[in-house]
Amino acid sequence: ANGDRVNRPRVKSAVNEGLIERGEYDHFMLKEIHEQPESLARSILPYIDQATQTLNLGDVADTMFAKADRAVAIACGTAYYAAHTAKYWFEQKAKLAFETDIASEFRYREPVLPQTGPAMFVSQSGETADTLAALRYCRQNGTPAVAVVNVPESSIAREAAAIVPTYAGPEIGVASTKAFTAQLSVLAVLALNAAKARGHLLPGDEVMAVKSLMALPRKVTEALEAQDDIREIAKTLAPCRDVLFLGRGRYYPLALEGALKLKEVSYIHAEGYAAGELKHGPIALIEKDLPVVVIAPKDELFEKTISNVEEIRARGARVILISDAAGIKAA
Ligand code: M6R
Repeated sequence: ANGDRVNRPRVKSAVNEGLIERGEYDHFMLKEIHEQPESLARSILPYIDQATQTLNLGDVADTMFAKADRAVAIACGTAYYAAHTAKYWFEQKAKLAFETDIASEFRYREPVLPQTGPAMFVSQSGETADTLAALRYCRQNGTPAVAVVNVPESSIAREAAAIVPTYAGPEIGVASTKAFTAQLSVLAVLALNAAKARGHLLPGDEVMAVKSLMALPRKVTEALEAQDDIREIAKTLAPCRDVLFLGRGRYYPLALEGALKLKEVSYIHAEGYAAGELKHGPIALIEKDLPVVVIAPKDELFEKTISNVEEIRARGARVILISDAAGIKAA
């Protein structure tokens, strides 16, 4: 399936009037996947000073994060997984307690809000009803809202105290692709700015981080060059009934997002798990007809995740490892 989403009248008319076209691509989702180098560059460049290779977000980080006791981030679906990934960055880089919540649950819990920190709302459309309701709940309780949205004139953007836009451009495909990576890049910028405002980012580390951000569009271009190989692997998943996705640390939310995306576009049942949770139940399902997608770049957690890979292989299941060159070599 490749359902194309038209979730706003303005975008709809732009599509109908031929202002947004699929071009050479079979469907909008594929087009939007290939737009990522450009949408990432658009989402990163406004927030950095290229000449000095420093962060340049303005005063949002100082006013919202410098003295924060903690922060919460609230969103739905893919946007929630972007926020969940950012939790690792805010905690590790900015030393800020950071909770994430699904918007459709948040306001029913009577959550205890931060005393001096913001609530962040991540949304492509800026119109998701539960996310907007959660924002209103926070405002009523005096918690300032920071919106990370792709549509600057949306309700969530209008009602927030501060907006840090993503610049993914219109996303027509139902499945979020370029909006997700734009959210991740802007949340990374925010986490780094929060780290700086809180005195946890040394000048040398800031330059290194900015260089890494600037390298992202090129790295995504390189990743997209593997599309023919990826298509062949995808064909082997097509007949499967279930697929498991595993990740550890900041790749755990990515495993959840991978499972969501597979369900949404292929109607194959998929589950995402934290790799360390495998032994607490799901290992019972591992057998030769259950492919397991493992997201494990070569980092400090790699060896631990590879030990899970070995357990999975020992039970006869096929592992599809998503890693970097060093990880593929070491696996
Ligand atoms: O517009 P939003 O980002 O607020 O939408 C939230 C979710 O509905 C959305 O992320 C959804 O999960 C994705 N389109 C799935 O690919």
